[in-house]
Amino acid sequence: MNPLLSVPIFGGMRYKRPMNKTAPRIGLLALSILGISLLHYLTPLHLHYLHDIFQRFYYLPIILASLWFGFRGGMACSLAVSIVYAPHILLQWGGGLTLEMEKYLEIVMYNVVGGVTGLLAQRERERSLELQRTAQGLEESYKKLQSQSERIIAVEEQLRRAERLSTLGEMAAVLAHEIRNPLGSIRGTAEILRDDYRPGDPKHEFIEIQIKETERLNHVVEDFLRMARPQAGQMQRCSLREELETIVVLTANDAHQRGIKLTFEPLENDLAVTGDGEKLRQAFLNIVINALQATPDGGSVTISTDSKDGFCEVRFRDTGAGITPDALEKIFEPFFTTKADGTGLGLAITRKIIEAHGGTLTVESEIGTGTTVTVRLPETKT
Ligand SMILES: Nc1ncnc2c1ncn2[C@@H]1O[C@H](COP(=O)(O)OP(=O)(O)OP(=O)(O)O)[C@@H](O)[C@H]1O
Ligand SMILES: [Mg+2]
Repeated sequence: MNPLLSVPIFGGMRYKRPMNKTAPRIGLLALSILGISLLHYLTPLHLHYLHDIFQRFYYLPIILASLWFGFRGGMACSLAVSIVYAPHILLQWGGGLTLEMEKYLEIVMYNVVGGVTGLLAQRERERSLELQRTAQGLEESYKKLQSQSERIIAVEEQLRRAERLSTLGEMAAVLAHEIRNPLGSIRGTAEILRDDYRPGDPKHEFIEIQIKETERLNHVVEDFLRMARPQAGQMQRCSLREELETIVVLTANDAHQRGIKLTFEPLENDLAVTGDGEKLRQAFLNIVINALQATPDGGSVTISTDSKDGFCEVRFRDTGAGITPDALEKIFEPFFTTKADGTGLGLAITRKIIEAHGGTLTVESEIGTGTTVTVRLPETKT
């Protein structure tokens, strides 16, 4: 098994973090000191050339301890060696002063080697730790930079959309002014003319149609205005289930006529959001109408709810024709439509409403399989 754990940095680069091996290392050092000492104590004194070799063996644990545990480790190990080795000199070699001196000097050497090697190893380790810290710091800065640039891209996208919508707003204001006034006159005069004919008279019917059509035109103009300048609605606690049930009731007949199975699968626990109920219903309705329009006879449209990370999630899944990748990029643009009688404003308005509620709107689609529109809105806890 690899004794080192790899921690990724910058995707490709890696630095190695040692696993905690303190206990086995101390055990190994203790065992080797014990082993060498036993050799010393048990080997007859006349085999002095063997003692000379054993004496040098002690450098092994001392150097290892210095490398593994730095200055303090090296010193602790050389002291331990001194303590176990000293009685051997005193009790077994005792007598010959020159010989003893040589052995005691060796003890001093143990401690010098332990200290110096330990110091050097410690400095090296500190430098490598510093390098690791720098690498970690760089990794964090890189991540921060990445998330900031992602945010900048998202804000840029929002700004571009806002710019398009504000141009649209100006256009809508001019249109409203230029169209509404003549519309008012047409309607007024039509109403006067209608009074000249009795109900049942074909001309009465024609004038009725005229009045209805002016009303319809008036609604279109109002829609433009509403999208350009959404008025601050009444923000209040809304039950997500109730709002969606209303949508199901409103669209059930349309679904039935189209031969589409409309299903509502709410979470067992009702979810609450804070918002303008009327606007939210308008947004949900746009999505469901799109789904019904895209789904063929025999297909299905399913609405379900979920709660995730403090957000309510509403999914509108249809088994319709799906949206091509090219179209998918444009469906939120005002006036983008693939329908002969569509205005292309439905999803643009819907997204505006959802974002005004602090939510998000995402669309996933597969040609021939269907489309899923997901609305996420901040959940209001009870
Ligand atoms: N569920 C869906 N399945 C397939 N295509 C969809 C779906 N929802 C939206 N679209 C595509 O996105 C386009 C834009 O939708 P949007 O609601 O903005 O306008 P529209 O439906 O065309 O017009 P309007 O809403 O005024 O009737 C649609 O024309 C359609 O091509
Ligand atoms: Mg639509």
